[in-house]
Amino acid sequence: MKFKLLIVDDERNIREGLAEALQMDGHDVETAADGNEGWKRFQRGDIDLVITDLRMPGISGEELLKHICSETPGIPVIVLTGHGTVESAVDAMRIGAYDFLTKPVNLDRLSLLCKRALANRELVLKHRRLEEELEQRKKFNAIIGTSAPMRKIFDTISRAAPSRASILITGESGVGKELVANAIHELSPRRGKPLIKVHCAALASSILESELFGHEKGSFTGAVARRRGRFELANEGTLFLDEIGEIEQNIQIKLLRVLQEKKFERLGGEETIETDVRIVAATNKDLKAEIEKGNFREDLYFRLNVVNIHVPPLRERKDDIPLLITAFLKEFAAENGKQLEGIDDKARSCLYAYSWPGNVRELRNCMESAVVMTKGPLISEGDLPPTLRASNDEGWIRIPVGTSLAESEKIIIRDTLSNLKGNKSKTAEVLNIGRKTLHRKLAEWGESMEEAKL
Ligand SMILES: Nc1ncnc2c1ncn2[C@@H]1O[C@H](COP(=O)(O)OP(=O)(O)OP(=O)(O)O)[C@@H](O)[C@H]1O
Ligand SMILES: [Mg+2]
Repeated sequence: MKFKLLIVDDERNIREGLAEALQMDGHDVETAADGNEGWKRFQRGDIDLVITDLRMPGISGEELLKHICSETPGIPVIVLTGHGTVESAVDAMRIGAYDFLTKPVNLDRLSLLCKRALANRELVLKHRRLEEELEQRKKFNAIIGTSAPMRKIFDTISRAAPSRASILITGESGVGKELVANAIHELSPRRGKPLIKVHCAALASSILESELFGHEKGSFTGAVARRRGRFELANEGTLFLDEIGEIEQNIQIKLLRVLQEKKFERLGGEETIETDVRIVAATNKDLKAEIEKGNFREDLYFRLNVVNIHVPPLRERKDDIPLLITAFLKEFAAENGKQLEGIDDKARSCLYAYSWPGNVRELRNCMESAVVMTKGPLISEGDLPPTLRASNDEGWIRIPVGTSLAESEKIIIRDTLSNLKGNKSKTAEVLNIGRKTLHRKLAEWGESMEEAKL
């Protein structure tokens, strides 16, 4: 790792002599002739270590040290002192100097001291990088999923979030579109600035317009005061337009203009307001079909859909179910103060077999009610809502439309086995497969189901 050092000393000979010696050690070295110049250079950033004289015209070395320690703690500062000024060296150490050297400077000692300080600095930087990485992982962690489509979504979010590009999130109700929008904001440079959400379907068209763009006092009956719209509130941040497929044509035109020109006026206002907003929109409608029908403007669609993130329905990524079950069980067990051991096989196979028309939201609600209802430490079939239980009726195996062949096989084997009270020979006979085959399949399945236990 290459480091940048800053040497601050008003004596040119010393400054240049030290710089030369440290450059020979392989460091990048910059110099400053007094405290003011040194502080200016330091504020521009990317300095890893400072070596400063104490007595200088303008800002003294001691003041410089104070500034650095309060602005950017963790950057080592080595202080140079003249003969007989041990006290000032002690003061400097108290303020937070890494170490001090007395003049005339012993170059070997300086070189060694720098190496040690920088090794420390490298550790600090590494630790910070790891912490940032962890922070990033946390952002995704709110979105649970390890299936191939979810991994692809995480990848797209990571790549698209840092830019300013508009993102359109599509997918059925309850698949997690809002979570994706949150993650985009959190992983973008706009985190820390507002993330403003507008639920477009919930508002009548006239209200939506003033919600988005704001209004001037008296612009319509009831506009008793000037009001800033969501576009203004979201300035420098992200605006999440939920259910974008529901907005009417006149608002579509206005939105298009903001997207193109980054400018708008409040309702009833003359003043043109500039705005720096990143748009993330979501819809569970098929916008292409809406364009065909003449309900949605194609030009707006293209502006919104610079990056598309499609979140598939849960029934198309059943691999995520075990992990989601585990996470929701943990969450609701903690919330309800219950000690749960997990979920039994029968209940699990119900959850697996169901087609989840309400997607993750439905699964989450289902797990909440199961946790509340259950009496024992294990969630069992009886704790599940009747719609789910119906798929496991005695004597019948019901497989929802959209279930894959591999999945159907699992359900058939599980349910037959449970119907025959766990008798494996009988099950193999009824299903007309070898016992070894049955054992192998059960072992495979058993393993993959194991993950989901609490
Ligand atoms: N992958 C996931 N991991 C964890 N929780 C999830 C996941 N997907 C969705 N959820 C949860 O499911 C619920 C619905 O998610 P969300 O509101 O993001 O869905 P949506 O796609 O915006 O739905 P709608 O179209 O109805 O607005 C929320 O409680 C959310 O926390
Ligand atoms: Mg939503």
